Amino acid sequence: MATLTQFRPGEIWPDDHGVHINAHGGGILVHQGIFYWFGEHKVEGKLGNSAQVGVHVYSSRDLYNWRDEGIALRVEDSPDSDITRGCVLERPKVIYNARTSKFVMWFHLELKGRGYSASRSGVAISDHVTGPYQFIRSLRPNAGILPMNEASRSVDPLNEAESARMASKRWSEGRSDFPVDLIFRRDFPGGQMARDMTLFVDDDSTAYHVFASEENATLNIAELSEDYTTHTGRYFRVFPREFNEAPALFKHSGRYYMFSSDCTGWAPNPGRVAVADSIWGPWTHLGNPCRGEPEQTATTFESQSTHVLPIPGPVPGQLGKFIYMGDRWRPDNAIDGRYIWLPIEWENDAPVIRWHDHWDMRVLA
Ligand code: GAL
Repeated sequence: MATLTQFRPGEIWPDDHGVHINAHGGGILVHQGIFYWFGEHKVEGKLGNSAQVGVHVYSSRDLYNWRDEGIALRVEDSPDSDITRGCVLERPKVIYNARTSKFVMWFHLELKGRGYSASRSGVAISDHVTGPYQFIRSLRPNAGILPMNEASRSVDPLNEAESARMASKRWSEGRSDFPVDLIFRRDFPGGQMARDMTLFVDDDSTAYHVFASEENATLNIAELSEDYTTHTGRYFRVFPREFNEAPALFKHSGRYYMFSSDCTGWAPNPGRVAVADSIWGPWTHLGNPCRGEPEQTATTFESQSTHVLPIPGPVPGQLGKFIYMGDRWRPDNAIDGRYIWLPIEWENDAPVIRWHDHWDMRVLA
């Protein structure tokens, strides 16, 4: 294979065997100076929208050239397993826990044959960065626990009329009166829904799980336990009723930034970015981070965010150099999904992205 020296967003991206990289909805862990890219392994056709294989991992020293490190987490054959072949296993992210010396993977899990209704989070661990990862459990986060920013909100079970309204599904039509409170109360005993997700590790090693909850209407930011395999119960509801998915969090100059998207399934939509001085908020909208032609800003360059990669410096985020990573989904032939990586520029302290047919790390220098 010829050595690659550029990013070419949207084009076929060959790995060390010349095969298009298969790591969709992915994220990158930097460990001992090596980049590890984890993502959904897709197969051909629409079947690829469900998990037939598992989570694929690649390694790289320069971010252009990726070595196939195989399947980090495999779906299981047993029909009784939560991660049985044919489940939906999306947006896997891996972080390293220095206390336990374990690599911890979280992902969005939908149980086989139940569409997107299960809305669970899965967790798997490994002693080795490339795996094999061992599936531990799936769950709905924060069962029976109130968010930190609304410690007195009602958790009354739904009454008959409210249950009937929820069951009718007519509530899913409008956004302005979307019944997030009813959904929250419905799910309170068993845990909140968790779909599109990311992980973020702060400078003090505290890790956070960020996920689309309440039928995607509200983002939750939830603290993970010291070993990163459970939730502590400290969590925060962000932007209720605003329908953010595809969260990607990063930190720069002591502030927290979050890319996200609207909710339009596999079809792209205008991206969003928000900022906060504390991870617990308040979060403030900075608008659409895309700069370019109307059709580019309306579709985030035909992509949906999945991760923002800080270019490693002495202190994470200190260099102020970041790469936006997005997916250009191809739901009719899932394996052909493309990767849209673009350099993040700063405009009045707001991160923005512009299209580049091709670019290299000198753009960020
Ligand atoms: C998108 C989401 C993807 C996937 C898809 C299914 O909105 O970001 O991860 O869940 O919907 O339609």
